[in-house]
Amino acid sequence: MSTQVQELPSVEPASLAPVEDYLRELHQRLSAMSGGKPADYIPELGKADPSLFGIAIATVDGQIYAVGDADHPFTIQSISKPFMYGYALQQHGREAVLKHVGVEPTGEAFNSIVLDEVANRPFNPMVNAGAIAIAEMMQGETQSDRIVNMLALFSSLAGRRLELDEAVYASELATGHRNRAIAYMMLNTGMITRDPNDVLDLYFRQCSVNVTARDLAIMAATLANDGVNPLTGETVFDTRYVRDVLTVMNSCGMYDYTGQWSYEVGLSAKSGVSGGIIAVIPGQVGICSFSPPIDKQGNSVRGIRVCHEISNEFQLHAFNNRTNVRSVIRREYRGDVVSSNRIRTPEERAALARDGHQVAVIEVQGALFFGSTEQVLRRLKHLADDARYVVLDFKRVHLADTSACNLIARATRSMAGCDTELVFACIADDGPLAVLARKLAEHEDGGDRLVRLFRDADAAMEWCEDQLLRRPPFSDSPTKFALTELDLFKGLSPSEYRLIETLVRPLTFDKGEIIIREGAEAKLFFVVARGTVSVQISVPGQGGRKKRVASIGPGLSFGEMALLDGGKRSADIIADERVICYGLAVDQLQELAAEHPNIMITILSNLTREFSERLRHANEEIRALE
Ligand code: DON
Repeated sequence: MSTQVQELPSVEPASLAPVEDYLRELHQRLSAMSGGKPADYIPELGKADPSLFGIAIATVDGQIYAVGDADHPFTIQSISKPFMYGYALQQHGREAVLKHVGVEPTGEAFNSIVLDEVANRPFNPMVNAGAIAIAEMMQGETQSDRIVNMLALFSSLAGRRLELDEAVYASELATGHRNRAIAYMMLNTGMITRDPNDVLDLYFRQCSVNVTARDLAIMAATLANDGVNPLTGETVFDTRYVRDVLTVMNSCGMYDYTGQWSYEVGLSAKSGVSGGIIAVIPGQVGICSFSPPIDKQGNSVRGIRVCHEISNEFQLHAFNNRTNVRSVIRREYRGDVVSSNRIRTPEERAALARDGHQVAVIEVQGALFFGSTEQVLRRLKHLADDARYVVLDFKRVHLADTSACNLIARATRSMAGCDTELVFACIADDGPLAVLARKLAEHEDGGDRLVRLFRDADAAMEWCEDQLLRRPPFSDSPTKFALTELDLFKGLSPSEYRLIETLVRPLTFDKGEIIIREGAEAKLFFVVARGTVSVQISVPGQGGRKKRVASIGPGLSFGEMALLDGGKRSADIIADERVICYGLAVDQLQELAAEHPNIMITILSNLTREFSERLRHANEEIRALE
């Protein structure tokens, strides 16, 4: 019966756009919404076209999804406040900023004239009073320096040069009497000390910076991305200050609507009277909606719906739990079933089949933070009851926060001197776990090795096996193996051994030297007399990267496939240290075997037994690792 291969219909790439499709549909649906009107207490803002409507989402890696009027410029207004707050924290530190402005929500309108008279500071940086006090913290000798610095801040957040809307600025300057009253009240009580006109001038200017929804989505994504602009890669704020900014946005960003917003939408957000709203989902995206009609609380009517719907559709509420700490353990195995890549003698294999269960490996995956680390360490404690060695394999861990590093360091300390040894694999000091590597290195004291770190699980496993086998370090291993001790020649008669001895050539290789090269003609096979060699294969499609698949020590042979097929070498063999090998030429052995056929029969049957044992073990491993 012949099978026909059916051509699949080709998929138009343009149709695979689920996020754009959703946004387009949302935009179209909410365009029909009415209600609210553009702010007109600043006359210039009242001129805004109420039908303008744009939505933009920027991801932490710089992908932007934009619909509607996402490139229409409008003034940033109060959305400038969280960024100016981040700047103040970055420049002056938390303590100095907290002296100036608190973090308590007022539950009042943005322009309320309430001040924290007990602490002698405005309640928070999201209301006008707090924002004016924060504006005073802009660095610069002269007012023009401060203006330049303020514009530079917003430009680096947006990833492009931003400018003022002079008409809106002039309009605010002319009509902002309430803000003037707030500033003078604060001057009166020493909450600000500079000339209020200068401070207000900067505040009005910061509110009049022209942005688009696309810009604001990128600025929000900069907060989502730990303070690093996803487009330019520039670090604008330190991570610790991003957390502070998001906290006040969460508790104060939507003024007297904040409680209901948190309840229903659950995102750190900030609105502005020109109709913008930004929302930040840490580690994921920044969102901006722009639509000028605002409600009584000063929040964009469509913008609230946009954020509400996006939050629900994509399950973005801050208190949705999407963490499954249990998945941190990928799998576990023991050393009696799964072995290192070191080729072992039959006696060693038998010993490991008997005692290998004393080595337990936990493959850890994902992110390590308090909850996931607690799971791993609880499991470690359990395994330590009956394992002498527990390997924590961190190959698939991409993050360990400070709490995880501290807990792991504590566990390491408390296990020092116990019967069970803790062994780590894959904590490179130049990778994502560099902080953990440093933390663990702190425990290396007085030459007493408390922390055992290996480049990968295989190396860790090999070390544990060596401990169980009580192998002497390789450098102390015997330099010479009599041919009679080699499994490959087991069963030969004394006279046959003597014949083979005449063919053996002792060969020496320096550390790093390639003994066999992949693809080369197979003319010799080898027996290791001293030292270790590694078997490396090239990984397809990885630019010549090599993977170490086995290591071979004294008494064991390599390159013996040459006896079977005489073809090309299937791997590189590299000397791990200074190595002494016995080399035997295949053609000479074959010539000898022509007269003494029992020599070849014995060698080939020894090889077959060895290969079938290795294959059986490999099958068991595959089963255990499924
Ligand atoms: O202080 C003001 O009046 C404006 N320049 C900023 C107000 C604002 O955007 C309040 N947020 N909803």
